[in-house]
Amino acid sequence: MANASKHIWVQIDFEETKAFRSALFDAIPMRQCSRSEYDGEPLTEKELEQLQDAGHGDGVSVLLMTDAAQKDLVTDCVAKGNEAQFADPAWAHELKSWIRFSGKEAVRSGDGLYGPVMGNPDVPRWLGLLAMKGTFSAKNQNKKDHRHIQSSSAIAVIYSETDDIPHWIEAGRCYQRLALQAAALGLRAAFINQPVEVVKLRPEFAQAIGIGNRRPDLIVRIGHGPEMPRSLRRSVEDVLG
Ligand SMILES: Cc1cc2nc3c(=O)[nH]c(=O)nc-3n(C[C@H](O)[C@H](O)[C@H](O)COP(=O)(O)O)c2cc1C
Repeated sequence: MANASKHIWVQIDFEETKAFRSALFDAIPMRQCSRSEYDGEPLTEKELEQLQDAGHGDGVSVLLMTDAAQKDLVTDCVAKGNEAQFADPAWAHELKSWIRFSGKEAVRSGDGLYGPVMGNPDVPRWLGLLAMKGTFSAKNQNKKDHRHIQSSSAIAVIYSETDDIPHWIEAGRCYQRLALQAAALGLRAAFINQPVEVVKLRPEFAQAIGIGNRRPDLIVRIGHGPEMPRSLRRSVEDVLG
């Protein structure tokens, strides 16, 4: 293991298996992070059960929050996260470096967050950065997140029993199944991760939602709403060398 302090090496061994087709497999091309406003309509018991099952794994669970007080709590925690992040120049610098304001930029880099997936127009980088100067603030982000959270039908928190590498990987797998299950049910989903991205807020958030000393890994809002433009994909050959 070279330079263990900086890199985590994960070895994945593939083995032959029988092809297995499932509703989640078929949902792969439909899934996206839909950063749109949802319609707030409640989910059925059956839908909640299916989401709960899909997001459950080995040492990882999903908490689904649907009532108004829980949405208010998440809205407050996300706002605290926004205050901390927008006050951090390194965070702002990194965020801007990942935004691809135009299709041309997105295709050239093959990665990053393309403006229209967040509801912004496709513009040249200089214009995007200029527009951001006037709108980039915790206050504006809080307003948007408030609308997004309150219009959601459920807020899912994926959380782990232990903070170690196997659980990080399992949390990612649980998220992927949860997101695919949502897509299979015709539901939209998007991240609102601020309370787990700010180090100081993560344990506070865990206490506030009643999961004690367990580790909240990812926060996802779910509901019915419009699709958004899609993020670009790299070709398989570009990713698996
Ligand atoms: C671990 C992880 C954390 C993420 N956190 C956020 C987030 O905090 N906010 C956000 O808007 N998107 C977040 N994303 C979503 C990615 O930006 C998104 O998956 C990527 O742009 C590809 O788009 P797609 O999921 O619509 O295909 C996260 C994705 C992953 C895998």
